[in-house]
Amino acid sequence: MSSSIPERQWLPPHLRTLGTTIFAEMSALATATGSINLGQGFPDTDGPDVVREAAVSALRSGHGNQYPPGIGIPELRNAIAAHQLRWYGQSVDADTEVLVTAGATEAIAATILALVDEGDEVIALEPYYDSYGACIAMARGVRVPVTLRAPSFRIDVEALRAAVTPRTRLLLINSPHNPTGMALTDAEREAIRSVAVENDLIVVSDEVYEHLVFDDRAHVPLATLPGMAERTITIGSAGKTFSFTGWKIGWAIAEPGLLNAVRTTKQFLTYVSGGPFQYAVAQALELPDDYYRSFTAELQRKRNLLSSGLASIGFDVSVPEGTYFVTTDIRPLGFDDGLDFCRRLPELAGVVAIPHQVFYDDLEAGRPLVRWAFCKQDDVLLEAIDRLSALPRR
Ligand SMILES: Cc1ncc(COP(=O)(O)O)c(C=O)c1O
Repeated sequence: MSSSIPERQWLPPHLRTLGTTIFAEMSALATATGSINLGQGFPDTDGPDVVREAAVSALRSGHGNQYPPGIGIPELRNAIAAHQLRWYGQSVDADTEVLVTAGATEAIAATILALVDEGDEVIALEPYYDSYGACIAMARGVRVPVTLRAPSFRIDVEALRAAVTPRTRLLLINSPHNPTGMALTDAEREAIRSVAVENDLIVVSDEVYEHLVFDDRAHVPLATLPGMAERTITIGSAGKTFSFTGWKIGWAIAEPGLLNAVRTTKQFLTYVSGGPFQYAVAQALELPDDYYRSFTAELQRKRNLLSSGLASIGFDVSVPEGTYFVTTDIRPLGFDDGLDFCRRLPELAGVVAIPHQVFYDDLEAGRPLVRWAFCKQDDVLLEAIDRLSALPRR
């Protein structure tokens, strides 16, 4: 066997388009060129000390150092259930309706592998988070995009209705939405609800940015709408809410039958993970409302800082309603291809960003769009804005 054979030759045909994630490619580029990394969505400061200390204390006291229960430790499942009740008035049974996973990533993979059969269609909003496409491919499903278009990225409800066919198995929704920053309106939530209920679809609702919604918008889990609890799998992540993305503690919430299906595949992906971190996240979820409010307010301030900086440079900015990403159209600066722009940006300005087009099947819709992460320290954002101000116009 020769190590020079490209990895794609080893992959079965249905996985050959996967390649390396754009995040890995761009983060490696940032390191290699010493650029400011506004690409991958991770904060450059850790979350609260009290949460980190809770992990240290769990490690020292031997909590979670051996395999935790397959569905997650009871302390964490109770804390997740209490969190849903506190913030959304949603009652969930911590013993039968909550499953702890290795980040939201595993919850997504286990859900899709559990529910999608060869040829089943999965409707997803595009641009979509890249693991959706990969997991649908692994399940040999067919992804059916509903395109969110710049600058407002609103859901085209007619397109959503038209995307449903007899082969539709899942509706995969993400709000607040990565990479566009769109957060569902009441009308959009209602449209999704009616499409799901009328067509008897299962909805996978990726809500990892639930505490990153700005300008006093409310995050409303789709599962809390009438007729949705029994058909929705809600996916969450401690990484985003508590700024410990490396810990990879996520969860899935669903009625017991659906959740058991997800648990069946999850057992054979990781079985369990992050024992001591599960204890720490249980404590994190119980932090007072003030923590959550100031976290949102701080990220909203950073959103404003980066959005206005990018606008002052001349980009067309879509100010995000949630998440920690802002999207720009690069055409006012004379560029038209985001992938080419992002690959050249380290050399042009010493900054790294993520091109939208890799998240679209409709390449034209994403071509001029670029995503910038603002979950970074102010001086990093200001330095990036400064560097980008010197960008040569074309
Ligand atoms: C929309 C979305 N879903 C899921 C994830 C993965 O979350 P985790 O790090 O908990 O696996 C991310 C991470 O960026 C994301 O943006």
